[in-house]
Amino acid sequence: MRNLLEVNNLTTYFKSNKGLIKAVDGINFTVSSREILAIVGESGCGKSVTAKTILGLIGQKKNEIIGGEVLFKGENLLTKNYREMQQIRGKEISTVFQDPMTSLNPLHKVGQQIAEVLTIHEQISRQAARKQAINILTKVGIPSAASRAEQYPHQFSGGMRQRAIIAMALVCRPDLLIADEPTTALDVTIQAQILDLLQDLRHELKTAIIMITHDLGVVAEISDTVAVMYAGHLVEKAPVKLLFAEARHPYTKGLLNSIPRPGSRKKLEPIPGQPPDLHNLKTGCNFADRCPSVMAKCRQQSPLLKKIAPDHQAACWLYEEER
Ligand SMILES: Nc1ncnc2c1ncn2[C@@H]1O[C@H](COP(=O)(O)OP(=O)(O)O)[C@@H](O)[C@H]1O
Ligand SMILES: [Mg+2]
Repeated sequence: MRNLLEVNNLTTYFKSNKGLIKAVDGINFTVSSREILAIVGESGCGKSVTAKTILGLIGQKKNEIIGGEVLFKGENLLTKNYREMQQIRGKEISTVFQDPMTSLNPLHKVGQQIAEVLTIHEQISRQAARKQAINILTKVGIPSAASRAEQYPHQFSGGMRQRAIIAMALVCRPDLLIADEPTTALDVTIQAQILDLLQDLRHELKTAIIMITHDLGVVAEISDTVAVMYAGHLVEKAPVKLLFAEARHPYTKGLLNSIPRPGSRKKLEPIPGQPPDLHNLKTGCNFADRCPSVMAKCRQQSPLLKKIAPDHQAACWLYEEER
């Protein structure tokens, strides 16, 4: 089957008075149907900008320069106009963001808000929409969904609100869900429950998921495939088990060394230094200044993401000879 989503050489630059900010700088990846792809990287590396560009939420303003292709079911979303994208957003591609309070309207009942998503996108009676809203609230694990549907967001706990948001995102049965740090604001137990829920729903509703996170714990728990992002580039991509067992890019290795891992007694070491300024990038690999394996070539030319083994891609000059 053809890929559900194919992102080709996507770039998102912002003009600013300090210069050009290269937030996303030529990234490539695919998502197949029902796959969970995690995009992981430190804060500020371009994860949210990637999501927003795919969704058509960046590119309208004068200072926003986008390039490349976002093929969704074979059609380039970057050439669609605002109205066309509005039709796609919420119905075929939906989103869950970090802060549940900003995605739910505090003035409307939860069930009503979910039903409204349906009535916007589908020819459906109010009564049928209400019924489906209660249905999906049950599916996301809200007990007594019919009476909960009559409540307002502030009457829900944080975890319940995030479940309601997920219900709202999934009520039209989208092919793709983009979840940007959906559990970051939640405590660990609730976080694990939400990740389990997303995994179950992916099978039941046949939804692919792009899970954006800075947290490798989330990655390990939920994803099939992992793409590691650093300073606007993807630096490594592999199935989740392979990535955790055999990370190849020095940045990925650094990330893995900086978090506690089950069964490992290695001392935790944060990656020294800071990510580079995106409006002031030097020639060569963006990780060179922090890389323990840096070579002369790394300062001259930026490595591209290439296959280094079956199912395993990295953007690093260390592996150039192996190809
Ligand atoms: N609208 C904007 N205008 C200018 N710079 C932006 C804008 N949105 C994001 N950026 C910059 O782009 C970079 C990537 O941001 P973002 O994608 O939000 O990072 P994260 O990986 O934490 O989600 C950051 O340096 C951020 O400051
Ligand atoms: Mg972000």
